[in-house]
Amino acid sequence: MTDRPPFVAGNWKMHLTRPEAAALAAATADAAQARPGVEVGIFPPYTLLDVVHEALDDSPVVLGGQACHGADSGAHTGEISAPMLVESGCTAVLCGHSERRAAGESDHEVGVRVRAALRAGLRVVLCVGETLPQREEGETDTVLVHQLDAGLADVEPAALEHVDVAYEPVWAIGTGRTATPAMAAEAHATLRRRLVSRFGDPGQGPRILYGGSVKPSNARELMHTDDVGGVLVGGASLDAESFRAIIESA
Ligand code: PGA
Repeated sequence: MTDRPPFVAGNWKMHLTRPEAAALAAATADAAQARPGVEVGIFPPYTLLDVVHEALDDSPVVLGGQACHGADSGAHTGEISAPMLVESGCTAVLCGHSERRAAGESDHEVGVRVRAALRAGLRVVLCVGETLPQREEGETDTVLVHQLDAGLADVEPAALEHVDVAYEPVWAIGTGRTATPAMAAEAHATLRRRLVSRFGDPGQGPRILYGGSVKPSNARELMHTDDVGGVLVGGASLDAESFRAIIESA
């Protein structure tokens, strides 16, 4: 396990106008300032990175992209590279979010992107999670281990201090259904065992975040579950008061 502070991360997905983004970023910076023992991050759409970066000013809130390409530049229409995120003020990036995997990002491609992000000096939040049919077929552990292995392929143990893993059961994302603390604990234990068996003592290595319909009413219990090092929040991160309440419960 790691003694890094809990990480509360907001994935804004494809939401918000520029004025809304500036206001929410400022409110999030305030909420983060009130809880210095909690690391807070936001992951806005690319076109809002500049306005959010400006609104965050010198706040310690981590700014991240929602994805990056595996190449530093090239003929990849519609994609953004890790160095471009750095240039836009980002210090982190999500890799392998299930909505990206559903749009065709393979396990192998996720690994390529993780390595590109680390090469550029970004912190990575590697997202993994099973679908409902996979859970019902008893394949959860196999899927998690496979996604973790592929996502961290060819990553040096020393780089793990720049990596967090987010367990996000696909059936819990945006559905209002949340994994029970027992389900989260079991999945996190599977991921932790695999990390230790592949990389040895993780030192300051990955926190394992939980994600999927996290809201103020369930955040505290989830965050006090064994080896839950924080939360990755979608919908509830778009509302300043909800996100503040989640930060306060960490
Ligand atoms: P949700 O999204 O909190 O809206 O379920 C979580 C995520 O996709 O990271």
